[in-house]
Amino acid sequence: MTHYRNIVILTGAGISAESGLATFRDQGGLWENHRIEEVATPEAFAFDPDLVQNFYNMRRAALGTVAPNAAHKALARLEAEHSGQVLVVTQNVDDLHERAGSKNLLHMHGELAKARCRPCGKVHDWREDLHQTTPCPACGAAPALRPHIVWFGEMPFHMDMIEAALYEADLFLSIGTSGNVYPAAGFVAQARSYSRAHTVELNLEPSEGHSQFAETIHGPAGQIVPDYVEKILGGG
Ligand code: OAD
Repeated sequence: MTHYRNIVILTGAGISAESGLATFRDQGGLWENHRIEEVATPEAFAFDPDLVQNFYNMRRAALGTVAPNAAHKALARLEAEHSGQVLVVTQNVDDLHERAGSKNLLHMHGELAKARCRPCGKVHDWREDLHQTTPCPACGAAPALRPHIVWFGEMPFHMDMIEAALYEADLFLSIGTSGNVYPAAGFVAQARSYSRAHTVELNLEPSEGHSQFAETIHGPAGQIVPDYVEKILGGG
């Protein structure tokens, strides 16, 4: 049995890399051949909505071609077998954590498999392509629907719940994230100062903020995350 009670886990694109989804900064700031600002800002959507919708349509369709890997599954196992709280906070917009079985999960940067109506605010589960002509199923407006994604310059979701969990955490894990994008990059410092949590980075290589962690483990998530979960469930 682990001696930790409340575990908060931040994940980033690196946890989904072995499932076949491209990370952001590993390719020199390009995401599937686009500069992030070209497709992931409100200005980009205002300038060329069809380009942005098509970009996310392709990402959404790609979800059907990938599957959770051993790292996603290990975190779901941790949640199922740990006697205390486990919260996964993901920056990822894919659905691989939930498909692996994670239940206590917050998507702070939104979800590819959802669409939001700008006029009425309703959020819909969405697996199909979105077009400017697609009417909102709730209010009928068009153009109205946008990807339920947090773009640069917009406020991440669920910050109150994340802050509250960081106050209670005694173990904070950061998995597969480069530590470049705030507020997520600041969670390690918050966990240390709010609750004196033990902090661990699990990443392919040392991230931007690796020196802020008490412990660092480097290697592919599909190996190091199951090993670490085994260790903490075994009492390590
Ligand atoms: P990044 O692409 O910035 O970083 C991915 C990290 O994963 C890097 O540090 C890699 O070394 C590591 N990595 C790659 N393959 C790995 C593997 N197999 N196992 C473990 N680690 C691996 O992605 P994020 O940090 O998630 O925001 O990016 C944060 C945010 O920036 C994203 O959510 C997105 C982006 O702009 C928004 O869209 C708002």
